Amino acid sequence: MPPASLQTRLLNWYRKNKRIFPWRDRADAYAVWVSEIMLQQTRTETVVPYFENWMRLFPSVAALARASEGEVLRAWEGLGYYSRARNLHKAAKIVLERCGGTLPEDATELIKLPGIGRYTAGAIASIAFGKDEPALDGNLKRVYARLFDLNEPVNTPGGERVLWDVARRNLPWGRAGDFNQALMDLGATICLPKKPRCSLCPVADLCAARRNGVETLRPVKKAGKPAPGFVHAAGVIVRRGRVLLAKRPLGGLLGGMWEFPNGRVEGDPAEELAKALWTGYGLKVRRRDAAGVVRHAYTHFTLTVHVFLCDLSVKPRSDHLKWVRWADLDVYPMGKADRMVARMAETMVVSLNAR
Ligand code: ADE
Repeated sequence: MPPASLQTRLLNWYRKNKRIFPWRDRADAYAVWVSEIMLQQTRTETVVPYFENWMRLFPSVAALARASEGEVLRAWEGLGYYSRARNLHKAAKIVLERCGGTLPEDATELIKLPGIGRYTAGAIASIAFGKDEPALDGNLKRVYARLFDLNEPVNTPGGERVLWDVARRNLPWGRAGDFNQALMDLGATICLPKKPRCSLCPVADLCAARRNGVETLRPVKKAGKPAPGFVHAAGVIVRRGRVLLAKRPLGGLLGGMWEFPNGRVEGDPAEELAKALWTGYGLKVRRRDAAGVVRHAYTHFTLTVHVFLCDLSVKPRSDHLKWVRWADLDVYPMGKADRMVARMAETMVVSLNAR
């Protein structure tokens, strides 16, 4: 009898070893869609509680389409890459309006929706609708680069083309959903980036990179630019038990979310704070105590925020600036750095009041 194929072995391995997730094995394309968007840049263990909370808050396309942007962003808070939430919300409105709330089944239609790229379209079409579509994310690229010992850099257009081609040619027809997920699980639990656990791999003897002794050298990646670091000064501006928040412009990073007024500085943050808040928001502030420093690494840069308690003489009239009660801060969607500033400011104000 010839040895079982790569496909048969991986499907059998998946049947016995697949990880249990709340989005798996349910006949709900919306749940698959939500999970795939959440999983785009985020680890499964982080996603699970967000997914469960999301499905409680917005159990259907219609429920999501009818929610406010604030509710949607707040439910996403902490997952990062907030354009994913805004696009999912936008796409739910389109699916409700144009298709009565039923997601299209074909990858070529799915990819037309905001936030759905080639990977996600393939994942939804194969997992939720049984279509023969590949779905290549970072994990699968690594697995394929090893199985076929591909030496083309995976983060170049040429490397991408080769990988999608390999992924399409290797699909077991009619079983693409399980096969894609088997590769996802293999990549997450065995074919690990730094130390692949080849002794546990069901297809180790079929792996070309292992045969050539280069499994830890795959995938090949073209070096990118190092992420720059920026320094900001932020003001916690307090008046009569309220704190001043600013709404970020729609469209950019963390668009539509709330922040403590802040701006980039080149020299001493304490010296440059007043000027930064004047140019950025038209706010005239007087600096009081330093509250501390917050750091956060975004994908393309790192941010260091020096936080100061401030007084304000006059608040300019603006829909983008709002006095918020301390007790209500949690309702306002914020990025990670600003939520850390909020926690720091709350502690500081409590201790100042206790003096
Ligand atoms: N990562 C992306 N999609 C996934 C899925 N459906 N299961 C497990 N991990 C994933």
